[in-house]
Amino acid sequence: MIVPTHDSSELARQTADGSWTLAHAEHSEWYHSRAGALTEARHLYVVASGILGEFEQGNCVRVLDVGLGLGYNALATVDAWLQSGAKAHLQILSLENDEALFHALRSGSAPWQIGWNPFWIEALKGLRCESDGLWRGVIRGPGGGALDWHVILGDARSDASISLLQKSGPHDYVWQDPFSPKKNPGMWTADWFSAVALAVGCDGCLMTYSVARKVRDALEVSGWRVEKIPTTSHKKNWLRAFRLARVGDPT
Ligand SMILES: C[S@@+](CC[C@H](N)C(=O)[O-])C[C@H]1O[C@@H](n2cnc3c(N)ncnc32)[C@H](O)[C@@H]1O
Repeated sequence: MIVPTHDSSELARQTADGSWTLAHAEHSEWYHSRAGALTEARHLYVVASGILGEFEQGNCVRVLDVGLGLGYNALATVDAWLQSGAKAHLQILSLENDEALFHALRSGSAPWQIGWNPFWIEALKGLRCESDGLWRGVIRGPGGGALDWHVILGDARSDASISLLQKSGPHDYVWQDPFSPKKNPGMWTADWFSAVALAVGCDGCLMTYSVARKVRDALEVSGWRVEKIPTTSHKKNWLRAFRLARVGDPT
């Protein structure tokens, strides 16, 4: 089913797992594949990254969520943390340049939020503006850990965003999920991956859906080791990358 949204330039449709996604009018691209918006968030980012093991062991974890979008990757991460008992702190830093989309997400009544877990809506409504373009929400978990969720609004590649994301690191995981390299090329360059590498600890893990040669090359020249991994979806491979050691890393 496809329905028009609040913004007539965008359409919403239901994906195979029942979760909803949007079409971006300017890019003529859907935010998620038809195979399942929430399923991809869970399988590609949460499961294939190995973050579940960290939650099980009660480790503190920092996640850099590139392209908050409709919120699935961030919220699937929060779900997994809660299901593992939320024993230690989880920090998420989400980056998003579409302010209207962020406010629709926070409203809890956007077209893609039909049937959402009330806890997700509560977490989103709990985000408060800390300063211009910076939002934050804190939620105590049942096992003693807390979720500390920041959202930076604006171009992720701006000096201000890069300085904030590097200061809030080192991040352990990166969910690299902008639009495709064809439609959103600036978010897949060696410059961008170098900036992210500086915000990530040694062996930090970056997950993404694109295995394009250009993306792998850009990662490799900016300090990442890449590997293609099998998917659980219609696509053959996803990409996992690890930040290589560099001079200045703690020994
Ligand atoms: C495919 S969607 C992300 C889907 C999202 N991760 C989810 O779980 O629903 C890509 C998102 O990246 C954002 N984006 C694209 N370029 C950006 C940039 N330069 N800075 C910050 N966000 C950007 C878009 O506005 C869009 O919301």
